[in-house]
Amino acid sequence: MTELAKSFYLTTPIYYVNDAPHIGHAYTTTAGDVLTRWHRQRGESVWFLTGVDEHGTKVQRAAEAGGVEPQVWVDRLVSESWQPVLKTIDARNDDFIRTTESRHADRVQKFWDTVKANGYVFSAPYEGPYCVGCEEFKFAADLVEGTGEFAGEQVCSIHGKPPEQLSEENWFFQLSAFNDQLIKYYEENPNAVRPQSAYNEVMSFLRGGLVDISMSRSSVKWGIPLSWDKSQVVYVWFDALLNYITATGYGAEPGSKDAELFARVWPANVQLVGKDILRFHAVYWPAMLLAAGLQPPQQVFAHGWLLVGGEKMSKSKLTGISPELIVDHFGSDAFRYYFMRAIAFGHDGSFSWEDMSARYTSELANGLGNLASRATAMVGKYFEGKLPPDQAPGDKEIEIQQLLQTVVEQADSCIDELDFAGAIGQVREFIEHINGYVTEQEPWVLAKDESTIPRLATVLYTVCESLRAIAVLYNPVMPKAMQEMWQAIGAQEALGDLADQPLASCGTWGQLPAGVQVVKGASLFPRLAEPESD
Ligand code: MSP
Repeated sequence: MTELAKSFYLTTPIYYVNDAPHIGHAYTTTAGDVLTRWHRQRGESVWFLTGVDEHGTKVQRAAEAGGVEPQVWVDRLVSESWQPVLKTIDARNDDFIRTTESRHADRVQKFWDTVKANGYVFSAPYEGPYCVGCEEFKFAADLVEGTGEFAGEQVCSIHGKPPEQLSEENWFFQLSAFNDQLIKYYEENPNAVRPQSAYNEVMSFLRGGLVDISMSRSSVKWGIPLSWDKSQVVYVWFDALLNYITATGYGAEPGSKDAELFARVWPANVQLVGKDILRFHAVYWPAMLLAAGLQPPQQVFAHGWLLVGGEKMSKSKLTGISPELIVDHFGSDAFRYYFMRAIAFGHDGSFSWEDMSARYTSELANGLGNLASRATAMVGKYFEGKLPPDQAPGDKEIEIQQLLQTVVEQADSCIDELDFAGAIGQVREFIEHINGYVTEQEPWVLAKDESTIPRLATVLYTVCESLRAIAVLYNPVMPKAMQEMWQAIGAQEALGDLADQPLASCGTWGQLPAGVQVVKGASLFPRLAEPESD
């Protein structure tokens, strides 16, 4: 990696540790991991941050219900559930921030001291509704008519429960001071909030006018105390949002490694969020940054929800499915593939065991897995495991070489739009094309006649060289299986580590040298075990 490599800083939201993760949380992290692996293969200098949000009423109450101190509660959940889930889904994050760490707490205080010194913090009473599920001060427009036991009452549109009524003496952040500046910023930078539906939502909220908002809580104990008023803690969102800069060295000693990191990565390139927390990230967060004299992120991307029965999957509604359950059955690669492939990023989608099994079998096992095993088996059988040279290329092979170039370019531009399904779709079409080519060329027939051995060599070379490119393109999505395939086609020895293969030259034909040792390894996507019945 050169000094001049372009920086790419990506964040996921930090997750509440009131409970263990479900696949909705793993979904955001998986998307972040696929995207950052892709950018690493572009040769960029990547920083991928994830972590946990440990303060606030929601976590405090969960700890109380569990009968332990909040710190004990979060320590346990973080080490037993939240850190392990990263391994489960094979995430390669560069850092993991916990908001109870001192590096975070100290810098949060420093940040708010700065904003106060800049004149944007004042004391005032807060009276109004608060949803603990969202940890959010609600406006009348955010509430909807309740149903069932809450019929006739106004409830939170996400949690379906009436908000609590707060009456506190708080410190306020002068959000309204940034209204015009934010509108102008987003008009000039339409890519700063994506997709379009999210952009429109943010613009209409901004045009409706911003009002000042509490930045502290006087009735909550579990949080970071204000430096100038120790009787209050920083409102949990105004503590949590800061993780994106506290973890990367905001406020660090000038000249220190941390300060260097901050100078390199801020403003973040992409901040991934679920659509439920868009307003925090695309309105409050940039306003906070501006108030402290910092730049807003380059892009906030809001993805959709994983739904169960048409509603957001959630632990509180007992609809959360644990990532382990799926990964134990399908493997981490298939988990990553499925969620990135089956749900258009930015839209809602549902997980179904049947759909996932069907795609696993048709797209992974029968599609790519079968192609790789047929190709490596035939090189073993007809050429004693040595990749034959590309002896007699013709029109069909030229067509494949050109198609590959297009696929690489298109997949790369899909990734720029965070269109994971589109990028995967490009590679899949290429795989189907190669599978069709094998069926059409019938290498097993070519093998029967001495005069067609040069054609046989070309066909098998073409398939293995295509697998080389497929491994590079799919590595961000399915790193384990692609590493196995990379090894099976002899690319590890000849070309080095898969993760070091630049995407830019992935479409250049002829990289796999003839003569490399090809081995038919274990099946890349083994047959699924029968699901256990209860
Ligand atoms: N702690 C806050 C975020 C603070 S970021 C400074 C929070 N935590 S959360 O655990 O409730 O949610 C974290 C992320 O998980 C959000 O982006 C949310 O959209 C996502 N998801 C939670 N349930 C989800 C689904 N059912 N589907 C998709 N994503 C979901 O909010």
